[in-house]
Amino acid sequence: MPIRSVSLVSGLLILFLRLPAFGLELLTPPPFAQLAQPNIVVIGLAPGVERGTVHWEGKSTSFRVRNGRFHISLDLGAGTHSARFVAGESELMAQWEVMSSENESTYLYHAKVESGQCKSCHDPLAPPDPGENVSATCYECHASYNERSFVHGPVGMGLCSVCHDPHGAVGSNFLRMDPEDLCTYCHNQPVTLAHRQRSESRPCLECHDPHGARRKYNLNPKEGETP
Ligand code: HEC
Ligand code: HEC
Ligand code: HEC
Ligand code: HEC
Ligand code: HEC
Repeated sequence: MPIRSVSLVSGLLILFLRLPAFGLELLTPPPFAQLAQPNIVVIGLAPGVERGTVHWEGKSTSFRVRNGRFHISLDLGAGTHSARFVAGESELMAQWEVMSSENESTYLYHAKVESGQCKSCHDPLAPPDPGENVSATCYECHASYNERSFVHGPVGMGLCSVCHDPHGAVGSNFLRMDPEDLCTYCHNQPVTLAHRQRSESRPCLECHDPHGARRKYNLNPKEGETP
């Protein structure tokens, strides 16, 4: 295998590598997040237990844990909230701030998570495995990128969640990291000297489409061309 492919494959593996969970973990929203709405959906992991409890502001709610996973809705008000999650031996503190307006640090939910319609993507008791091809689900509502002449490697493999957190994230488009870091995470070897000189300090997305394109190398359309 050429060296370039080895680094791309290890990039994929590293992005998907997760340590086995031993205790409580909040996936959505993270334990310290700014939120734009008072009604929130919490998705978390709590391996090895059947029930858990969340305490906040003198209230408490217990929740069922199935296959080590749970999800609950909480109705917070405006302001800063501290919540304590307890499940078995494990405890976790969260501090969420409900803001009156969005800013660049606001955690945004995917529309279908926000409305609690988990099943529009998967059975909440049987979520897809990391590394599973999930594109068919996404393309039920989003235009398919597979129709494009050149499809970007991970997009063709249906690995949408390598770049997107499908439940939500801080910033637009639910990206797992800043686009530049995302690109160089896998493309960590300089392409060519000519490419480096041409692209010096210009954002990758200025020239490349992250999903695919009509032009080779997923290049964005030239001026006047249809995408
Ligand atoms: C927009 C599509 C979409 C919606 C809506 C959605 N999920 Fe998911 N979910 C996914 C995908 C894709 C994965 C696999 C993630 C990955 O590969 O990292 C996943 C993974 C998960 C996992 C496993 C995460 C892990 O790290 O083990 C849980 C738990 C989960 N979802 C719960 C929920 C719950 C509960 C809801 C509803 C409140 C929900 N999901 C709504 C797309 C969705
Ligand atoms: C049942 C329909 C449905 C499914 C399935 C679905 N989405 Fe969405 N998605 C939406 C809606 C509705 C929005 C909000 C769109 C808007 O406001 O224009 C959205 C927004 C998004 C956005 C933000 C786009 C934007 O313009 O703000 C991304 C990224 C996204 N979805 C990714 C995914 C991925 C990845 C999957 C598969 C794991 C998926 N979606 C599955 C309905 C869906
Ligand atoms: C290599 C990383 C990467 C992969 C893999 C990826 N995306 Fe994206 N996606 C992005 C980036 C970056 C943006 C933001 C584009 C921008 O700002 O112009 C984006 C934007 C989007 C949007 C917003 C509308 C648009 O077209 O710009 C949707 C919807 C979306 N992605 C869905 C998906 C789906 C569905 C998959 C899997 C089939 C997928 N993405 C795979 C990086 C990726
Ligand atoms: C998860 C790993 C991963 C991420 C993240 C990623 N890529 Fe890729 N990229 C690949 C793979 C795999 C290929 C296919 C490699 C091949 O065919 O040699 C590829 C191919 C490409 C190509 C060459 C396409 C061609 O036709 O030869 C370009 C250009 C590219 N990626 C740009 C980007 C940009 C820009 C980003 C950031 C938005 C990005 N990549 C993020 C894995 C990734
Ligand atoms: C100024 C426009 C421009 C910018 C910015 C740019 N590229 Fe490119 N890229 C190109 C062009 C044009 C090609 C076609 C091959 C060539 O001329 O080197 C290309 C080719 C590539 C290839 C495929 C090379 C091959 O030989 O398979 C990859 C991978 C790539 N770019 C990644 C990136 C990444 C990652 C970034 C951001 C760090 C980036 N590019 C920024 C214009 C750009």
